[in-house]
Amino acid sequence: MSANPFNGFTDYGVGIGLRIPHYRHILERRPGVDWFEIISENFMVDGGRPLAILDQILEQYRVVQHGVSMYLGSADPLDREHLRRLKALARRTRTPWLSDHLCWGSVDGRYTHDLLPMPYTWEAVRVTAAKIRQARETLEVPVIVENVSSYAEFHASEMTEWEFLNEVAERADCGILLDVNNIYVSSRNHGFDPFTYLNAVPAERVAQIHIAGHSKFEKYILDTHDHPVLDQVWRLYARAIQRCGPTATLLEWDDRIPPFEEVHAEALKANRYLLAAEPDRQLVLP
Ligand SMILES: [Fe+2]
Repeated sequence: MSANPFNGFTDYGVGIGLRIPHYRHILERRPGVDWFEIISENFMVDGGRPLAILDQILEQYRVVQHGVSMYLGSADPLDREHLRRLKALARRTRTPWLSDHLCWGSVDGRYTHDLLPMPYTWEAVRVTAAKIRQARETLEVPVIVENVSSYAEFHASEMTEWEFLNEVAERADCGILLDVNNIYVSSRNHGFDPFTYLNAVPAERVAQIHIAGHSKFEKYILDTHDHPVLDQVWRLYARAIQRCGPTATLLEWDDRIPPFEEVHAEALKANRYLLAAEPDRQLVLP
């Protein structure tokens, strides 16, 4: 039994993001995978091939939904039509929780399609927490929020990013999707110690963890999800598991996607850390 009320799914272990280049391999070979994460927006359609593939995946695997366009941090109200479609998909997938980002991306109904960093202000805490509560009530599924990576900061900020994350999660009474790669990327771009951030995250609210690779440029690091996970990110992940206990973990690999076995092997490296936290754990092997 988990001591973490937002992490009642410790058997979820290590998942992989479901990506088009892997569909054939998965459907033909049926590899052993704990669960797949889907990008909700790719399946919020009325029919056709995406849903046909999804139904075949659902016959065999557990699926968790991850979204990119609720814009929980925008001052705009939630998009009712978007929520209606999201809810219909959640019924189809039976997702145990549903994640989206702690970001904004729209102004007056115009969408940027970017995950823009928040100004860390008390006003933003209030607005964002209220929208998360409203989303959860409408969707009738636990909503968890993910920290994004950022390349710019606002002068208006009244607190650190980790204080903001804490305040929002507390006021919304929601879980957290902790992206340790994003913490690392932002720590390099803004010059803070990533462990200071990690150690301040309310461990009892972490329901899922993202790990990913990224690209290094001369002056900044971009969160590109197109490389194996760096050692520094594994070190942060190890600390996160130490603090949060065994937690559903997902490797994001979105660009220059290698063969399925390569992505899966990289993801399964996380098992080493999950086993350290829970030695009797039953592993799903490739
Ligand atoms: Fe992420």
